[in-house]
Amino acid sequence: MNVLVIYFSQTGGTEKIAKIIEQGILTRGNKCEIIKIKSANTKDFNEFDLIGIGTPTFFYREPRNVRAFIRNIKSVLGKHCFIFCTHGSIIGNTFYYMSKELSKKGFIIIGSFDSYSNSSIQFYPKIMHTAKHPDEIELEEAKKFGENICDISLRIQNGNLNLIQKFELTDNTWWARNPKLLTLERLRENSPKFKVNLDKCTECLICQDNCPVNTIDIEIDHPEIQKEGCIFCWYCEKLCPEGAIEADWTIIRKAARGNLGRYVKILKEAEIQGKFRPYVDYEKII
Ligand SMILES: Cc1cc2nc3c(=O)[nH]c(=O)nc-3n(C[C@H](O)[C@H](O)[C@H](O)COP(=O)(O)O)c2cc1C
Ligand code: SF4
Ligand code: SF4
Repeated sequence: MNVLVIYFSQTGGTEKIAKIIEQGILTRGNKCEIIKIKSANTKDFNEFDLIGIGTPTFFYREPRNVRAFIRNIKSVLGKHCFIFCTHGSIIGNTFYYMSKELSKKGFIIIGSFDSYSNSSIQFYPKIMHTAKHPDEIELEEAKKFGENICDISLRIQNGNLNLIQKFELTDNTWWARNPKLLTLERLRENSPKFKVNLDKCTECLICQDNCPVNTIDIEIDHPEIQKEGCIFCWYCEKLCPEGAIEADWTIIRKAARGNLGRYVKILKEAEIQGKFRPYVDYEKII
């Protein structure tokens, strides 16, 4: 089979999983091309038998740039697709929404894989509960997933339709109850305002090249960050080698602290189900 794996990744978790899945696919004698999402819109999906799309979870679902990518795909009528994701404590409805939108384009979702990954957001403690993930076990599982996914596609083609994946919407949890809290307007209100300090900025373009939605133009006279289209991933600020993107995290840091205990509760449940292994002392994450 000829497989195309497309992924979005900022801090490397999803990229790691994408590459291991690729290894698994190649191990079984299939062809596999792997590509970052920013370069993927030039690809002709007709050249591939199977498409994989991977993403981090942002705000309990797939990030807005991934949503836009899927929205712009031309209809593919019946092409097989698998989805994968890395996340901190809460994968949320990532697979539900991805599969819903991909199905509208004509894809059949034949598999999914997710892994915990070291979650690092500026307003949370440096070491978070999912540190050291993906771990060896998750990497091994990702490899197996890659090894098996082409066989699953063939079996579905041969009539084994019960292998097709279906995802339920989760809407009865504290994080799902009020999706309006996560509109761009609310994110804009609650996010620290980023400001470029021109005395520090060397115009290295790292922030501009890595903005997932290309909204940064650092070379204009008074560069602005978080313009129209910004998805509040906060990656530009994290990346700037000069500390030239200035932000005051105090308010959001205080507000987010309330979530830490909720993450522990969710991860303890996942531990009991054998889905999560902690490598840090939760008590020290405050
Ligand atoms: C803006 C933002 C929002 C996030 N929202 C969630 C979330 O809702 N649930 C979760 O479990 N992790 C969340 N995370 C953590 C990422 O999903 C996690 O670190 C992921 O592995 C990052 O993937 P990457 O390393 O491929 O960039 C968020 C991270 C960022 C930067
Ligand atoms: S990453 Fe920092 S130094 Fe580089 S262009 Fe952006 S703001 Fe300037
Ligand atoms: S936070 Fe920065 S990197 Fe992220 S979308 Fe907005 S401008 Fe781009």
